[in-house]
Amino acid sequence: MKNIVVLISGRGSNFKAVYEASIKEKWFDVWGVKIVGVISNRPEAAGLEYAEKMGIPTAVIDHKNFSDRESFEKVLIEKIEGFGGELVVLAGFMRVLTPLFVNHFKGRILNIHPALLPSFPGLHTHERALEAGVRIHGVTVHFVSDVLDGGAIIGQAAVPVLSTDNPDTLAQRVLSKEHVLYPRAVRLVATEKVRLEENKVVMDLESSEQLAIF
Ligand code: GAR
Repeated sequence: MKNIVVLISGRGSNFKAVYEASIKEKWFDVWGVKIVGVISNRPEAAGLEYAEKMGIPTAVIDHKNFSDRESFEKVLIEKIEGFGGELVVLAGFMRVLTPLFVNHFKGRILNIHPALLPSFPGLHTHERALEAGVRIHGVTVHFVSDVLDGGAIIGQAAVPVLSTDNPDTLAQRVLSKEHVLYPRAVRLVATEKVRLEENKVVMDLESSEQLAIF
């Protein structure tokens, strides 16, 4: 799973964090792992500009041009495979994926979700964490299954919830952990230190220590 395609919809800060780690840690020289393409479903996604600046091939597949999810996903699959992509990294990709896509790349799609799953799947996670009054919140990286935000968990990072927090301050604190956790998780899956076997995540002790961040 050496060739990574990143899917984005917006800002792309997680994509940038993964890309920067891949350069700093020399993923290509050490393991032959690299980001071979970035695809956005929104033409205005800021992350595309950064990818272009870094010389990474990009594509826009606007979901609004398709009448249903499956026809959008068929084109997405073609594009990912056209880039030579083997591992799909969702980084703020705000489209629900159907079994067509998920089964095609089973065990080869990662997502980052801004909450400690299984708490708070779906949207507005920071508002909901504050509303629920939890004292610890965070972020989860997981394999994607056909249950929304329900796939097997790869790694998590926790942050405190402070009495002064609002959704924006909490989101910022979580985001800085996202940028630590996601590059690690992507590297460990791309190098097959972490795998999905019969719907369970398998990893060695050293990887598990790296994937629980407090
Ligand atoms: C991140 O906080 C990510 O966890 C979240 O969107 C943001 C994207 O930021 N993802 C989801 O909510 C997925 N359901 P980014 O574009 O700067 O990486």
